[in-house]
Amino acid sequence: MKSLEIHTVESSRVSQTDFDNLEFGRVFSDHMFEMEYRDGEWQNPKIIPYGPISFTPALNVFHYGQAVFEGMKAYFVDEETIHLFRPRDHHNRLNFSCRRICIPETGYDQFIQALETLLRLDARWVPEKKGRSLYVRPVIFASEEYLAAKASRFYRFYIITSPVGAYYSEGFNPVSLTTSGKYVRAVRGGTGEVKTAGNYAASFLPAQKAQEEGFTQVLWLDAVEGRYVEEVGTMNIFFKIDDKLVTPKLSGSVLNGITRRSVIELANHEGIPIEERRISIDEVMEAGREDRLEEVFGSGTAAVISPVDRIHHEGEVIDIGQGTIGPIAKKMFDTITGIQYGELDDPFGWTHPVKVKSPEESLS
Ligand SMILES: Cc1ncc(COP(=O)(O)O)c(C=O)c1O
Repeated sequence: MKSLEIHTVESSRVSQTDFDNLEFGRVFSDHMFEMEYRDGEWQNPKIIPYGPISFTPALNVFHYGQAVFEGMKAYFVDEETIHLFRPRDHHNRLNFSCRRICIPETGYDQFIQALETLLRLDARWVPEKKGRSLYVRPVIFASEEYLAAKASRFYRFYIITSPVGAYYSEGFNPVSLTTSGKYVRAVRGGTGEVKTAGNYAASFLPAQKAQEEGFTQVLWLDAVEGRYVEEVGTMNIFFKIDDKLVTPKLSGSVLNGITRRSVIELANHEGIPIEERRISIDEVMEAGREDRLEEVFGSGTAAVISPVDRIHHEGEVIDIGQGTIGPIAKKMFDTITGIQYGELDDPFGWTHPVKVKSPEESLS
């Protein structure tokens, strides 16, 4: 592991930050991690002040989209402890994405050292109030100035962090979904199961159309038959039908969500019957019509658990749970967030505690 150089800011911006009005992903903490790949190895790991980086328009990521990223969170536990949620799983998925997009993998030791150092330096950026957290965004992109549609020889790895409140303006209130008709998100063999930039760019138009029609997000169906439910824009999806939780199995075009995995592990632990299988939109709509669709909720780092109260598909709308939050969604939300904020025991080993100095000490 290369040794980490640290350059700190002269004065922190934290006291100028309005923690009561945080828009998701708009404000960034004082420091960021930077590392470069050249001559066949990752090198020069550094913590530097957050700020602009300079490149020419010939940078190949701008043209060919060779970029992968992660989204994870850090939670305030007490003045001396911050919890990172499942960093090893996020790092494994980052490397999984790297392999698919031809980006050299990074080592976990370097990753966790960078995260711990960033969190210690920017501990005061981790919001204290429950419901808020520090969003952590690792991103790796091709940094060769070369207009050739092939894998770059150079890469940059950054980790930036951003204090956040609720992801949806609805908060922990229900969101609505619509299937998208002509557009698809991903096809097996493509890149749907990895976190790469292009997947998201391709979903903006259908997401805009869904919002114009009054829905929060798109419920994606499989690209081959247009029948099987896959996931939502930035969430995996769960249905409670006839007392069983069902979530689409990982088909190769669905992102292997860390929150999804947490919900499945928790359901198994609590003895809640759960199936990972193909589930068609027809089955969902029929269960909705027959009042057997008791709950629907999404899972993702940003919103943790997001109840769904309405699904639209081909002109038909089903309403779920009469505007209330279902007991399983609530249980999942309360337990996962309870573990994240250190209020509940963590029998699963999901949290990675980072010991920080008290705020007074970290100022000095
Ligand atoms: C397409 C997509 N699906 C699902 C998820 C949920 O994954 P996770 O629970 O790891 O945040 C995300 C967010 O990362 C996503 O971007």
